[in-house]
Amino acid sequence: MTRGIQSRSFLTLQDFTPSEITLLLTTAKQFKQMKMLGIPHRQLEGKNIALIFEKPSTRTRTAFTVACVDLGAHPEYLGKDDIQFGKKESVEDTAKVLGRMFDGIQFRGFSHETVELLAEHAGVPVWNGLTDRCHPTQVLADFLTIEEQLGKLKGVKLVYVGDGRNNVANSLLIGSAKMGLHFTIASPSSLFPEQALVEYAQEVARENQGSIIITDDVKKAVHGADAIYTDVWVSMGEEDLFAERIQLLQPYQVNGELMEATANPYTIFLHCLPAFHDLNTDVGKKIFDQFGLTEMEVTDEVFRSKHSVVFDEAENRMHTIKAVMALTLGR
Ligand code: CP
Repeated sequence: MTRGIQSRSFLTLQDFTPSEITLLLTTAKQFKQMKMLGIPHRQLEGKNIALIFEKPSTRTRTAFTVACVDLGAHPEYLGKDDIQFGKKESVEDTAKVLGRMFDGIQFRGFSHETVELLAEHAGVPVWNGLTDRCHPTQVLADFLTIEEQLGKLKGVKLVYVGDGRNNVANSLLIGSAKMGLHFTIASPSSLFPEQALVEYAQEVARENQGSIIITDDVKKAVHGADAIYTDVWVSMGEEDLFAERIQLLQPYQVNGELMEATANPYTIFLHCLPAFHDLNTDVGKKIFDQFGLTEMEVTDEVFRSKHSVVFDEAENRMHTIKAVMALTLGR
């Protein structure tokens, strides 16, 4: 049963039923179609949207900004040094002030507790654009991409390879359980997701005819995969962990051999981006100088292969974020 999405915050997929997630995806598809056909869809005409960013972003920032403009709303970017947020003014007081002026607030930052505090006190919908715990708008875009490519979500075998307890892995775990996917995390045991979250996801998956497997056997895990997903080995704010993570995660690199191990010529490859697949970035060059690696979580060969749908996935951030804003602000 859909309880109604209007006026609600979007902090984690745990708060949404499978039918509500389906509604978000269906609405995103409609927005994508309208955008392609040049049909105006200014459902949020006159609304003002605050975009708080404690951390840098390409996709989330631009997706929210273009989504706001296409929907007729005004986006206001508030970087960490632009406002007093947490420095001279508490999160609670900031939430109350912004809630008096804006119709909705996006937050990207470090602590999940911050986005919860914002949502508690703002009095308007708050949307999670990434915290240490989860990245739910990313997973909506991932699911839209999987549906477009494979024609369904239910029953799809999705294998996430790499750091199994980062925010993207956590949100994929929750989202897959809700939508009845067969979801596997293949990572070193020291990077397995929290046991309580796994147990929750396994219970929800059973209700939705899906399954959840957590393993360190990557070759076995990817056999028969419809989709392989990976993410950076070191998340924002953890840069001192590169040496440790490289050693742990090198056997989990998505490369030609791993794609072959799926035994499925039609497996798609997903990555939330940005990806370290070549030496065309400052960080990539630094890692090469320090560790001699030319690629990290995915090889350039796989990233650029016919299996890769990463740029569809990036575009879908915009369409799915439109759905989140339009439905929570009352379309
Ligand atoms: N995938 C993602 O969240 O990208 P950004 O960090 O560029 O927003």
